[in-house]
Amino acid sequence: MPACSCHHTLPASFFSSPQFFSLPGNLLPELQEEPPSRIPFRTGLLTCTDITFPLFCFFVETARFNTSHLFLLFVQKIRFLGEDLIGKIAAGEVVENPASVVKELIENAIDAHASEIRIEVEEGGKKKITVSDNGSGMSAEDARIAWQRHTTSKISSADDLFAIKTLGFRGEALASIAAVSKLTILTRDSESETGIELHIENGKIVSERVCGMNAGTTIVVSQLFYNTPARLKHLKSERVELLRIVDVVVRYAIAMPQIRFTLSTEHGNVFTKNPDSDERAGLIPVIGLEGAKSLIKMGWKDGRVEISGYISKPEIQKSTSDYIYLYVNRRWFYSKNIVNAIRDACGESLMKGKYPIAIIFISVPFEDVDVNVHPAKTEVRFVDERSIINSIAGAVRAAFARHREHEAILREVHEKGAQQTLAVESTGTAAQPAVVKEAITAYAASHPAGIVEEKTKVKIRVIGQALNSYIIGEISQTSEAFSGKPFQEASPPEKPSGKNSLGVREGAESHLVIVDQHAACERIAYEALRNFEKVVKQELIVPLVVELTPKEAKTLEEYRELLASLGFEIEDFGLRTFTVRSVPSVASMIATKELFIEMLDSLGEGKAQDAEEKIEHVLKTIACKSAIKSGEPLSVEKMYEILNALYKCKLPFNCPHGRPTVLKYQKKDLDRMFLR
Ligand SMILES: Nc1ncnc2c1ncn2[C@@H]1O[C@H](COP(=O)(O)OP(=O)(O)OP(=O)(O)O)[C@@H](O)[C@H]1O
Ligand SMILES: [Mg+2]
Repeated sequence: MPACSCHHTLPASFFSSPQFFSLPGNLLPELQEEPPSRIPFRTGLLTCTDITFPLFCFFVETARFNTSHLFLLFVQKIRFLGEDLIGKIAAGEVVENPASVVKELIENAIDAHASEIRIEVEEGGKKKITVSDNGSGMSAEDARIAWQRHTTSKISSADDLFAIKTLGFRGEALASIAAVSKLTILTRDSESETGIELHIENGKIVSERVCGMNAGTTIVVSQLFYNTPARLKHLKSERVELLRIVDVVVRYAIAMPQIRFTLSTEHGNVFTKNPDSDERAGLIPVIGLEGAKSLIKMGWKDGRVEISGYISKPEIQKSTSDYIYLYVNRRWFYSKNIVNAIRDACGESLMKGKYPIAIIFISVPFEDVDVNVHPAKTEVRFVDERSIINSIAGAVRAAFARHREHEAILREVHEKGAQQTLAVESTGTAAQPAVVKEAITAYAASHPAGIVEEKTKVKIRVIGQALNSYIIGEISQTSEAFSGKPFQEASPPEKPSGKNSLGVREGAESHLVIVDQHAACERIAYEALRNFEKVVKQELIVPLVVELTPKEAKTLEEYRELLASLGFEIEDFGLRTFTVRSVPSVASMIATKELFIEMLDSLGEGKAQDAEEKIEHVLKTIACKSAIKSGEPLSVEKMYEILNALYKCKLPFNCPHGRPTVLKYQKKDLDRMFLR
C-alpha cells in the first residue's frame, strides 16, 4: 500500500488527553502519569495517512479503554474515596445522635467564653437543634471556613496537643455536623458592624447574607442525618433522644456555674440554670432539691492533684451511676475505674448495686491529662491515674468522716435537750415515760423470741425472722398448707432438679421454709398491680410534694398515664414540682419522696419500647420499690401477713424478676447436709 503523502505525528498531549484516557477522573492517578514515558515508543510508530488516522485513533482508544477497564475490574480493588464520603465517615465518629451535636455546640460556646447559652430542640433534636451564645463570635472570613474539616482557632502546633486548655481542639465538630445535616451559622464578633448568615448543605455554602445581630453565635442544625438514612434509622424515640440531650446540658450546667443555660423544646422550657453564687443552691434545677440537700462538700489536695465537689450522704442510694459527674479541669469525662473507686470509698454504707450522687471536679496541670484519646472526647488518660483515684478516695472518706462527726454533735445536742425535757416532765419519779414504754413494746413485737404458735389459715408456723431478711417457718407434718402448690420448685441449691428429689409426697413431712421477705413482697405487689382494673388507691393524708430533676420530670411525663391507671394521682405544682395525692394501696411504701423518686429513676433507666414492655417495666419497678426491703425487721403479724398474701398469689415461688421467693427443706434434706 503506497504511503500517504501527508504524514501526521500524534502530539504527546494526545496521550494524556481525556479522550485517550477514558478512565474516570481521579480513580487511577498512576495511569494518568504514565503516558509521557511511553511517548517516544508510540510516536515512533504513529505516522499514517489522513484516512487511516481516525481508524487508528479508534483502535488505540478502544484498546486502551478495554485494558484500563479490565485492569480496574480484575486488578485494582482499592479506590480513593470522594470528599463527600470521607466527610460522612468522619462525621460518624463525632456525631452519633442529636445529643452529640448539642454537646459539640455547647463546647464551642463555652470555648468562646459565653456567659449565656440557649439550646432549643424540636422532635428530640431530630428535626432541629438551635444553640445560641453570647460569646466572642466569628468574623465573616472565619465563619466561611469554620465549618470545613481540620479548621480550628484552638491549637496551632503539635506541642499544643500536650496541654489542651479548651474543650475543642480537633477542628472537626462543625465539619462533621455539616456533613450530615443542613447547617446554618449566624455569627458576629465584637469588631464587626454586622453579622453573617451562612447556609451550608452537601459540603458547600449554598447562600450567604449580611445580618444584624448581637455579638455571639447561633448555630442551627436541621434534618440531622437526612443524607445518611442508615444513621437516621438508628435514632431512638423523641423522648429517648431528648433525655440524652437533657443529660448533656445538665453535665455542662454543673461544670460551668457561671454560665446561664436554658434548654427548651417546641413544647416549652425544660429547665433554666442561672448563675448562682451559692454553688449548691445552683445545682437544684439540675439535680433536684432532694439531691442538692443530700450533698456533702468535698475538698482535697495532694501534690499536683486537687479534688473539689460533692458526694451525697450515705443514706442516698441511687440505682444508676448516672448521677456521678466527673470533670477534669471542668471537662466532663467518663471513667469506669473512677466510678468504681468512688463506690469503694463509700464503703459498706452503700448497698450492692447502688451508687451515690457525686460531682467531682479534678484539677491537674493540663499536661498531666491527655484528652485526645477518644473520638467523641468522652474519655481521658491521666499520666498518673493511681494518684487521681487515691485522691478521690481520700476526698470521699474525709467528707464522710466530717459528716459523721457533724451528725454526732447534732445527736448529742438533741439528746441533751431531750434529757432535760424528760427531767422536767418526770418530776422526780422513776417511772418510764410513755414514749419509752411504747418503743420497748414495739421493739419486742418486732423481735419475736423463740417459736411462735400457728395462728393463720396458712398452716405454717412462723419461727421468726433471720438476718432481718428471711422469714423462717415450719409446715407441720399434717398441714395442708401450700398443698397442691409446687413447693418442691424451691429445692435446695444442691438439688435443682424439677422432681421432688426427696421423693416425699407433699404435705407428708414437716418442712422448714425460708422465705425471702423482699422477693415475696415483690411478688405480692406485682400480682396485685397486674390486676389493674381492681387496683385500690390510697389517698395520702399529707400529699407528697416532690421536686424532680429535668430527667426525672421527663420520665414522669412519659409514664404519667400508666401511673395514673395504677392509682398514682399526680398534679403539677410548678415547673418541675409535683404533688402526689394518692398511690396504689399495695405500693403504700412508695409514699415517701425518696422512694417515689427512686421509682422514677428506675423507670427512666428502662429500655421498654412498646406498650406491653412499658407496663411490665412499670409493674416490676413499682413492685420492687414498694416491697419490704432486705434488712428490715418485721413483726410477727407482718410475717404472717406476708405469708398469707404470698399463699394467695398465682405464682408464689418466684419474684417478678424470676428469682425464688421460697426455699423448702425437709428433715432428710437437712440430715444429708449435716452428713448424718
Ligand atoms: N460558638 C462559637 N463561637 C465562636 N467561634 C466558634 C463557635 N463555634 C465554632 N467556632 C469557631 O469555629 C472553629 C471550628 O469549630 P469546631 O467545633 O469545628 O472545631 P474545634 O472546636 O476547634 O475542635 P473540635 O472538633 O474538637 O470541637 C473553632 O475552632 C472556633 O474558632
Ligand atoms: Mg468544637
